[in-house]
Amino acid sequence: MNNPASIGQPLDRVDGPLKVTGKAPYAAEHQLPQQPLIGWIVEASIPKGRIKSIATQAAEKSSGVVAVLTHHNSASQTPPHEPEEEGRFTQSRAMLFDDHIPYHGFPVALVIADTLVNARHAAKLMEVSYESAETTTRAGDEADEIPSELDGGMEPDITQGDFEQAYQGSEVTLDVTYTTPHQAAAAMEPHATIADFDGSQLKVYISAQLIGPSVQSLATTLKLDQDKVRVMSPYIGGGFGSKLGVHNEAVLACLGAMHLQRPVKVAQHRRHVFQNAPHRGNSIQHIRLGAGTDGQIRAIGHESFMPRARGYEFAEPTGASARTTYRTDALKSLHRVKQVDMPPCDSCRAPGHAIGSLAFESAIDELAYKCGQDPLAFRLANMPDKDPSTGQPFASHDLAACLKEGAEKFGWKSDGQEPGTRTEGRHLVGYGVASSIRVNMLMPSKTRIRLDSDGTLTAWADMTDIGTGTYTILTQIAAEGLGLAAENVRIELGDSTYPDSSGSGGSFGAGSSGSALHDACLNMRKKLLDVAREQGLVKDAPEEDARFEDGNLHWGDQTLALTDLVRQSGSDALEMDGEVEPGDDQENYSQQAYGAQFAEVHVDRDTGEVRVKRLLGVFSAGRILNHKTARSQILGGMVWGISYALLEELMLDERYGAFMNRDLAEYHLPVNRDVPALEVHFREEPDPRSNPLGSKGIGELSICGAGAAVANAVYNATGVRVRDFPITLDKVL
Ligand code: MOS
Repeated sequence: MNNPASIGQPLDRVDGPLKVTGKAPYAAEHQLPQQPLIGWIVEASIPKGRIKSIATQAAEKSSGVVAVLTHHNSASQTPPHEPEEEGRFTQSRAMLFDDHIPYHGFPVALVIADTLVNARHAAKLMEVSYESAETTTRAGDEADEIPSELDGGMEPDITQGDFEQAYQGSEVTLDVTYTTPHQAAAAMEPHATIADFDGSQLKVYISAQLIGPSVQSLATTLKLDQDKVRVMSPYIGGGFGSKLGVHNEAVLACLGAMHLQRPVKVAQHRRHVFQNAPHRGNSIQHIRLGAGTDGQIRAIGHESFMPRARGYEFAEPTGASARTTYRTDALKSLHRVKQVDMPPCDSCRAPGHAIGSLAFESAIDELAYKCGQDPLAFRLANMPDKDPSTGQPFASHDLAACLKEGAEKFGWKSDGQEPGTRTEGRHLVGYGVASSIRVNMLMPSKTRIRLDSDGTLTAWADMTDIGTGTYTILTQIAAEGLGLAAENVRIELGDSTYPDSSGSGGSFGAGSSGSALHDACLNMRKKLLDVAREQGLVKDAPEEDARFEDGNLHWGDQTLALTDLVRQSGSDALEMDGEVEPGDDQENYSQQAYGAQFAEVHVDRDTGEVRVKRLLGVFSAGRILNHKTARSQILGGMVWGISYALLEELMLDERYGAFMNRDLAEYHLPVNRDVPALEVHFREEPDPRSNPLGSKGIGELSICGAGAAVANAVYNATGVRVRDFPITLDKVL
């Protein structure tokens, strides 16, 4: 088959031209018949307590102001976080509900005016007085609450074998504590919403990863029937987990629109985003490892301590990597949280595995050196043959192959040279390796397709494209499914009136929504074969011989145009549904995507400045749906890895529960100068147990391990093991 739009081909983004010409509307850019008013968020300036008084008169009189919403005049809402059992993406996110301030920066008012300038100016005229309450913002290793469950439904505590005995009995032991800082999701497109209410129906243009849960959450919050709420999010400028749930400005925009019965737009300012949007909490990871002098791991212990935002049930599965990466006689993995008066801690770019692997793959590296072994050989000698945390078989497992192939491509040498002794001019040179592993999930997803008599196939799902390439890979799945050109496929996403999909998150979007579309295409094929048979166009040809190519059905000795078949069916168009559900393979097998990453760093021996010179990864993520967009996702993850290792850190002022570096200038991210040429290789092994397409999640895979590869290279270069991320230059000197 020679279809340039087939699955796997590096098809250019089908939405690329719309994006670069500014025609793809992001949340704040939708054009409505009636120009929206602009809302500006007034944030609480205390960490916790209550509003004593709030004076709105000066703001109300200010030029262009149409309304000032506070808890005194906003619509009745369901109390925040209720019903609790409904879960964090669907429960109430009430704002301006009462005088209670749960955290610093929490919205206390929305000033609505004709222009942004007028709204922002009037917000400065607001006078709010507060009564402060005692605040807890710091979560250290005293955290002792056992979370009810971890993100992804994982158990907080797992033990296999007798950890203490195995650890005490190990000839080589390591007992270390790693820390990672608070991190922001910091998507390029700020959280923004336009709400439009006509007295009955609420239309919400938002930037959201999950559409269905957003409808539920808004309906619950605002006490509306779900069928009165329509959520649209066709284009999204990044989410990274911070847009999984409905965010503050969305509720505020809806309250404004309902109050005024006019469209209201609220875009979070970058400084709002850094405080008001969900973030990743800091982690303290106490790791104890034991091995024999033979280099066999005997004991893996991982205890995670993190904050949990009061009233918000999210706990990060930081021990995920420690649980599944290496074979061990005994395993102990615990998660403890402490409730803090902070904005929601939530999923952020590979929750669990990203910061878990940063610490754990560093600690494994330490253990390898302690055993006197090459870090690559040590990893290869400890590959598991089943999931160490559950005993389940792996659906597929080729981590060893990734490590070996990566080592060869990178030119890894086990020369036994002492860390801190390899130099090039004034630079210390080091090499590091780490395993990448990320849980692979399949979520329920539905889609509907229609084949028109002009040969156009349209697919609908409330799936989202957060910048990852969903429109493109779905185009390819439909094009291959029915043998169509990409130009003849239209993908319609991001609207709650479309069939319920997985949405985007947890790296499950492509496999889940793609499998549903694949199913719909198979149903459409059957339908077309039926039409051909019923019309007597084809006789006695076996179904297996039917091929869909070039807009035609080739069957028996016939070539039938799909356009003709649709017409012959007696209607203008054929419609089909498709769906996917997790099944036995998800229940019975441990499912992961894998990779191995190799870094070379140079460290200035005088200043401690670390420069990543090379970062190379070999990844196994099943069947690759589009080699161009997949590579882009992997590249992005590798950059985040550099970021986690060397740069990223939200600075918390613990007195106020306020983040200090609330913009992209002071929140350090890698820029071109920080990122070397990255090398990405795929081992393409479709995994039939993963989903009907054989693909695996790829969006978060390369974040996992990349940071540790860099950190391990820094150790190899300097002989200094930094256990407090990020590795800034003051720590390596
Ligand atoms: Mo992801 S951090 O589950 O959107």
